Amino acid sequence: MGKKTNIALIGFMGTGKSHYGKILADRLNFNFIEMDALIVEKNGKSIPEIFASEGEIRFRELEMAVCREAAQMQNSVIACGGGVILNKLNIDYLKQNAIIFCMEASDQTILSRIMKDGKEQRPLLNKPDPQREIENIMKFRRPLYQAYGDSFIDTEQPEDKVVFEICKYFKNQ
Ligand code: S3P
Repeated sequence: MGKKTNIALIGFMGTGKSHYGKILADRLNFNFIEMDALIVEKNGKSIPEIFASEGEIRFRELEMAVCREAAQMQNSVIACGGGVILNKLNIDYLKQNAIIFCMEASDQTILSRIMKDGKEQRPLLNKPDPQREIENIMKFRRPLYQAYGDSFIDTEQPEDKVVFEICKYFKNQ
């Protein structure tokens, strides 16, 4: 089997998928594809607006279409939405040509990163007790992130180490 030419970043909200995706794309001279941004562009609505007016199930359909499209690209870093792992088909698409890196951080770190953007940006956590939501959603999703990552990246280490680890694993595939 030939080498894979894409990097896909999965992981919970607030684990730095978009942040590191941009840095990696820059470093490797790859395209940067952010699934959520593509969904927003195609639908002319923000993610919170899509959740509010069309519901999560419709959002997941839009996400699957964008994932399928992104997975066909070459030399790209794909920052996935946190829920991409909820549909095994998404992972099957991505695996065809991407090494999948699972970005990780503690629940505490995730909470503080989310609150910096504002919880209104994350419909699933826009609840009175976002910390409890993170714990509950994580309980269900952790095994999925674990199952689908090719490599697991601690995003609480210094930024250059995160980038180095990903580049090294990707080059040595
Ligand atoms: C979601 C994560 C979000 C966005 C939507 C749902 C999730 O993306 O797709 O709010 O289900 O985990 P980020 O992981 O980029 O925040």
